[in-house]
Amino acid sequence: MKKTIRDYDLNGKRVIIRCDYNVPMDNGIILDDTRVRASIRTISYALNNGAKVILLSHLGRVKESKDKDCNSLYPVAELLSNLLKRKILFSPSTRGKELTEMVNNLKTGDILLIENTRFEDIDGNKESNCDEELSKYWASLGDIFINDAYASCHRNHASVTGIPKYLPSGIGFLVEREIKKIDNVLMSNTHPFITVLGGKKIDDKLGLIESLVKISDKLLIGGAMSFTFLKVLGYDINDDLVSMDNLINCKKVLDDYKDKIVLPLDFVCEDGNKELDELNKNDKGMDIGPKTIRLFRKELKDAKRVILNGPMGIFEDKRYAKGTRKIFNILGEYKIKTVIGGGDSASAVNKLGYDGMFYHVSTGGGATMKYLEERKLEGIEVIDDAKKQN
Ligand code: 3PG
Repeated sequence: MKKTIRDYDLNGKRVIIRCDYNVPMDNGIILDDTRVRASIRTISYALNNGAKVILLSHLGRVKESKDKDCNSLYPVAELLSNLLKRKILFSPSTRGKELTEMVNNLKTGDILLIENTRFEDIDGNKESNCDEELSKYWASLGDIFINDAYASCHRNHASVTGIPKYLPSGIGFLVEREIKKIDNVLMSNTHPFITVLGGKKIDDKLGLIESLVKISDKLLIGGAMSFTFLKVLGYDINDDLVSMDNLINCKKVLDDYKDKIVLPLDFVCEDGNKELDELNKNDKGMDIGPKTIRLFRKELKDAKRVILNGPMGIFEDKRYAKGTRKIFNILGEYKIKTVIGGGDSASAVNKLGYDGMFYHVSTGGGATMKYLEERKLEGIEVIDDAKKQN
């Protein structure tokens, strides 16, 4: 059990909260505010308990000075101010006299958002390499560190795993909720337990498949990632969608778990629906077809628990959204306890209008995939254990 924000007396303390404000942005306009809203509970709790709040987050990838322009966290400060109905102080620098002074002047109830932690990557990747001096400096700004950046918990970065080495630390409400909900579905003893995987790339999901297939009763694979498995089975597949490097690995998974793996029977292609033996080398499966939807329904209807990661097709184009939509409908219709994980799946839930339908939609992409695969995350492992004294 890790310490949580509830384990600390926050009164009068400078509380550093690491959030994940890595939100999609276009010209300073925040396109999806889910992650900012998800941080409000922990911030409000800290304020209600007398803290001086210091917020840290990364945004995008910042490798050279010009990357700073489109990756400022200032728009997040404005959004937070609207959501919390109070002034948010903003520090344009990530270190230095000006920032230290702002921190020294903080009063109980103040909130200070510090500019993008990855601005520190321009000179020697200090944030991303978990630089010791930077970690110590940021730690010196606070009295307590709270990690509420669930979606960044797989990163060994200064603002995630560096600071808690030097400060009493705990997890925030978002991290606590994510882990609790995912564990509830992952670790429970009810069966059938079905995993549904989709999306484009198989390369970064093989570890996930190998880990989840062991504990799932069935593993349903849709999306373009099914094509590497179908190639192994000898179907005439468009090589653009096949990961040649993973043919042997996919064959091994199919050999070891042939009774568990369920693959598509048909696809929606640019010129209509095609069954597997009608596919030719030019066809791209843009979505799973009607026979596959019926097959997946049959497998899912008695499920007690489902983990879903990745869409069934190119759902952003409404001609190819039906597969993803139908699978969401089936999960809702049979009221199956479902965790949706991964950035693309969460965005499919939002874009296709299924908000609030599922037991849990994770705010994490890579973090959730890693947690599902390894059942631990660096950013949580480094947090103080609850049994230790303050
Ligand atoms: C995410 O969006 O998955 C997290 O914010 C981590 O971002 P990163 O992949 O840039 O580290």
